[in-house]
Amino acid sequence: MKTIGYAAFDSKSELKPYSFERRDLRENDIAIDIKYCGVCHSDLHQAHNDWHGSMYPLVPGHEIVGIVSDVGSSVKKYKKGDTVAVGCMVDSCQECAPCHDHEEQFCEQGSTQTYNSKDRIDESITYGGYSNHIVVREEFVLDIPKTMDLAKVGPILCAGITTYSPLKEWGVEEGDRVGVIGLGGLGHMAVKLASAMGAHVTVFTTSDKKSKDAIDLGADKVVISKDEEQMKSAAKSLDVIIDTVPVAHDLSPYIQTLDIDGTLILVGAIDEIPPFHAGLLLGGRRRVAASVIGGTERTQEVIDFCAEHNIYPECEMIDMQDINTAFERMKNGDVKYRFVIDMESLKEQA
Ligand SMILES: NC(=O)c1ccc[n+]([C@@H]2O[C@H](COP(=O)([O-])OP(=O)(O)OC[C@H]3O[C@@H](n4cnc5c(N)ncnc54)[C@H](OP(=O)(O)O)[C@@H]3O)[C@@H](O)[C@H]2O)c1
Ligand SMILES: [Zn+2]
Ligand SMILES: [Zn+2]
Repeated sequence: MKTIGYAAFDSKSELKPYSFERRDLRENDIAIDIKYCGVCHSDLHQAHNDWHGSMYPLVPGHEIVGIVSDVGSSVKKYKKGDTVAVGCMVDSCQECAPCHDHEEQFCEQGSTQTYNSKDRIDESITYGGYSNHIVVREEFVLDIPKTMDLAKVGPILCAGITTYSPLKEWGVEEGDRVGVIGLGGLGHMAVKLASAMGAHVTVFTTSDKKSKDAIDLGADKVVISKDEEQMKSAAKSLDVIIDTVPVAHDLSPYIQTLDIDGTLILVGAIDEIPPFHAGLLLGGRRRVAASVIGGTERTQEVIDFCAEHNIYPECEMIDMQDINTAFERMKNGDVKYRFVIDMESLKEQA
């Protein structure tokens, strides 16, 4: 299938238009006309080869929303015209224990990422959602309830699941005290989701201009993390912290805001973290943990949770042609709170 999209061709240059072929449908495949795709900070990391594994041309995008245009001969779950989504993974072995538990992100053979990964069958490089079509095996296609506003669903597929998954795994419920570090794409979803779970939410931000937004999004308290006095006032006040900061940073000040048995969960920086004193942990039986995206079952669960609670990401719609400006703005922390590409704009490119 002839497909147009935008790709990074090396780690330094801007993304440019790129035409390529999507594979013919295998029997368990679904073809999707992509309508919208969210812009994740990981797309920027991957385009710039921050994680040292980028294969070019690289077509980013793993917050994909669209309409089924065709299905393979054995597909049962979906039919033409259905509204569907694809997140960060498009395949896994489907046989190992984590796959059986629908925790495909931990597949023992390694899951296949939506982009910058090798297809398990033909070894071609996967291309993501900054494009007008995608072909994905049935098991990795998620259902979007008909009542949802399609234009705003995309960011749930990565920013949503990445923050929902640890909130669920750490058993957050009504009355729990949840901290969120960094009010960006992931952070603002963490605030909305934790708040909908009935948690008392504290936002740590470097940007004092975001204080009002944080409260409007559902936070109960805002701490400007550069302000030592404010940090001190939050000491021992939290049960769970979701840390979405995209770069390596000192965890010490944040660990001190955990109460006894509290856990700080890293979801942002995939990097070497500066050392911190073990006394900070043992002085409160505290833990530092990490979490990565979430499996297909949890991802469907968070879409349905958002539908039920009328939760949507705050989306700034952009044209595909504006992606380089969006990357620049994201790098400068100037996003409120997720860019979403309207693929209609690619038609002008065709
Ligand atoms: N674990 C996973 O499975 C997973 C999944 C998706 C993304 N990620 C990673 O999560 C990170 C965040 O992604 P995102 O899309 O939410 O990014 P984003 O929209 O750019 O938000 C990141 C926020 O972190 C804060 N921040 C940025 N630079 C900072 C710095 N130097 N020091 C302190 N705070 C800083 C800013 O919030 P304030 O202005 O409020 O301080 C910013 O808005 C990225 O590294 C991404 O690759 C991980
Ligand atoms: Zn992402
Ligand atoms: Zn597996």
